[in-house]
Amino acid sequence: MNAVVYEGPNEVAIDEVEEPELEHPNDVLIDITTTCICGSDLHMYEGRTAAEPGIVFGHENMGIVSEVGDAVSTLEVGDRVVAPFNVACGFCENCEDGYTGFCTNVNPGFAGGAYGYVAMGPYTGGQAERLRIPYADFNALQLPEGDVHEDSFALLADIFPTGWHGTELADLQPGDSVAVFGAGPVGLMAAYSAKIKGASEIYVVDRVPSRLDLAEAHCDAHAVNFEEGDPVEQIKSAHGGGVDKGVDAVGYQALDPDTDPGDDAYDPARENPAVVINQLIQVVRPTGQLGIPGLYVPSDPGAPDEMAAQGRLGIDFGKLFEKGQALGTGQSNVKAYNEQLRDLIIEGRADPSWVVSHRVGLEEAPEMYERFDNREEGVIKVLLEP
Ligand SMILES: NC(=O)c1ccc[n+]([C@@H]2O[C@H](COP(=O)([O-])OP(=O)(O)OC[C@H]3O[C@@H](n4cnc5c(N)ncnc54)[C@H](O)[C@@H]3O)[C@@H](O)[C@H]2O)c1
Ligand SMILES: [Zn+2]
Ligand SMILES: [Zn+2]
Repeated sequence: MNAVVYEGPNEVAIDEVEEPELEHPNDVLIDITTTCICGSDLHMYEGRTAAEPGIVFGHENMGIVSEVGDAVSTLEVGDRVVAPFNVACGFCENCEDGYTGFCTNVNPGFAGGAYGYVAMGPYTGGQAERLRIPYADFNALQLPEGDVHEDSFALLADIFPTGWHGTELADLQPGDSVAVFGAGPVGLMAAYSAKIKGASEIYVVDRVPSRLDLAEAHCDAHAVNFEEGDPVEQIKSAHGGGVDKGVDAVGYQALDPDTDPGDDAYDPARENPAVVINQLIQVVRPTGQLGIPGLYVPSDPGAPDEMAAQGRLGIDFGKLFEKGQALGTGQSNVKAYNEQLRDLIIEGRADPSWVVSHRVGLEEAPEMYERFDNREEGVIKVLLEP
């Protein structure tokens, strides 16, 4: 079958790979109907992780069950499902507590597993024609038949629950004001979640106008362009003493607003992995909370300096302590939210599909990786259809 395979920095190809098979009685196989490209894939794509060539990418997967293992009790051939990007067992201590992003069984020696991702276990990615889902009763969320809400449901694999998770990590409550850094798919979903939860004011910071436009149009957010002035000052001048809560939906490849964008805005030389967290510490009020779903890594082969190469950041911890702020971090526990968010979609109370800018055939993945990686205007969330 065809799949999107990592060939080396800035290169993916459509290659012929082995068909998945049932490996355990708890597995199912699905025929992929939609699989998405994620900002998390870009860290691997750019060679900014330990990913080796040969990985099949794809952790945001949905499709139709085509084969069912003998021990699977809730799924049948023909069922339509979306899989959380986390692979989880359902019965370890973390899974039982709802922290399925930190399952200790599926990826021995590590807390957390995922499809098609470096260091996240042996689970092949779903940017392909078919996919194996382990512990399928636990890891496949059932969807209404047909193709209704296909775009919105595909976003339940990662970015809608992950944006929601960002607001949970920040302990966002109705009436709170919030600043979301990053208007990529995750930041936009965090701002949308904040709107659904009843935030009083939402600020969204980025540099890409088409992304900021979506935040204004669909999240009732105030757009803050960090290339037009210090984002902390822009937010504080609009909102007195700072906001109640903050979300970092950028991660370690954050651009430093103080460097000159020049011709290539995404030149790694412009990065400063601590800049967003430090700006959040400044802009969130004393005793406020920071949610950090943006990715940080313990080793970065392309880091701007030696400290950052080991995942050590120059964070203003003294200021954070002085302000009594709390922070929450980590992979999203998709299972904690995906069923509820699915039901909001079914009942018409949420429709995150506005974040989808492209739905294309699998063979267009190499071109779309390049365009999404350049954060080209209007390329926001790309869905692939094998
Ligand atoms: N915790 C999780 O479970 C989880 C899941 C999915 C994605 N992620 C991570 O979330 C992050 C965002 O993912 P995405 O898909 O939205 O990717 P993305 O790369 O498209 O979005 C990042 C956005 O941040 C903007 N940005 C860069 N520097 C900035 C700065 N200094 N201030 C404000 N904005 C800045 C970029 O212009 C871009 O629009 C990535 O780090 C990704 O790995 C985490
Ligand atoms: Zn993702
Ligand atoms: Zn587990």
